[in-house]
Amino acid sequence: MYYALPQKYREADTAELKDRILQVKERLGDRAIILTHHYQRPEVVELGDAVGDSYGLSKIAASRKDVEFIFFCGVHFMAESADILSGDHQTVYLPNPLAGCPMADMADMADVMEAWKVLEQFGGDKRIMPISYMNSAAGLKAFTGEHGGLICTSSNADAAYRYGFARKEKLFFFPDQHLGYNTGLKYGLMPEEMVIWDFSRDEGGLTEQQLAKAKVILWKGHCHVHINFTAEHVDQVRREHPEVKIVVHPECPPEVVQKADANGSTSFIVKYIEAQKPGSVIAVGTEINMVHRMAMTYTDRTIFELSGKTCPACANMYRTTLNDLAYCLENFETMKPIRVSDRIRGNALLALQRMLEVS
Ligand code: 13P
Ligand code: SF4
Repeated sequence: MYYALPQKYREADTAELKDRILQVKERLGDRAIILTHHYQRPEVVELGDAVGDSYGLSKIAASRKDVEFIFFCGVHFMAESADILSGDHQTVYLPNPLAGCPMADMADMADVMEAWKVLEQFGGDKRIMPISYMNSAAGLKAFTGEHGGLICTSSNADAAYRYGFARKEKLFFFPDQHLGYNTGLKYGLMPEEMVIWDFSRDEGGLTEQQLAKAKVILWKGHCHVHINFTAEHVDQVRREHPEVKIVVHPECPPEVVQKADANGSTSFIVKYIEAQKPGSVIAVGTEINMVHRMAMTYTDRTIFELSGKTCPACANMYRTTLNDLAYCLENFETMKPIRVSDRIRGNALLALQRMLEVS
């Protein structure tokens, strides 16, 4: 997709952009809402109407049937989910249409269909429930809904596991192997009950025996931001700051999650930081812009990024600038909205509604 901001928007300074954004907000009033994910730039969050994790923002998109326009400052799968959950009278815009999620892209539909063909030999729908992380394309959400499964986010993956195991013997979880594995351990599964489906290999690189024994089949996807964190980072921070509290996102590798004091969604991390006393030292294993915003907000606490050196930035979340937001708000009538095709909307909605019901 080609996308370039006109020069006047690229060259405008921050004060002018803020002023223009505020003017459109004033003009649109209750007709529009700006949703911002926790990883967005601080100046974007500041001008939004709500900030949240992907679950919280999808709930807002589902419930605010009164607004006509939803401007979603986040990444593509979030805006797609908002479109599925909102009504036909509502239109969703992604201010920077290039903002995607590399992890979501790791679950290609053709690869998923090939895997499912193999899993059908192990009972398919009758014995296996697909669970798709919110970070996935709408087509995969539709596949999940069609096969009796549901969507989850990092804040309700355990509820999704309970829902799945109450109905089926096995779960097929995609695309994030780490969230799937961490949730499995929390649910009480043994490591040997979970296998990883490597989509670059025939039959996922698994034997018939492994697939027959597995309770959870995990897609081999990951978040390139969160796999930067290691158990050594945790050990080093604890050596340097014996009083430290460590909170991480469950997209981090299992050894990091297990060594941390707490783990949860981005909103959970915010609440965890809020709950610490002034003077606390808190190391955070998640996206760097959010960590910086927390450090700027809670100045009476020492808050820093857990690795200290890997710069865990999500370039896609960072893509949306005030320039993009100003352009989108002033020109949305001429922009292509995020619209999920009718062919997949129904089943994708089914899977998302199941998530809202179990959470
Ligand atoms: P949350 O659902 O915790 O906001 O996470 C979304 C995400 O993309 C994390 O990398
Ligand atoms: Fe995707 Fe990772 Fe960015 Fe989240 S932080 S949007 S999972 S690439």
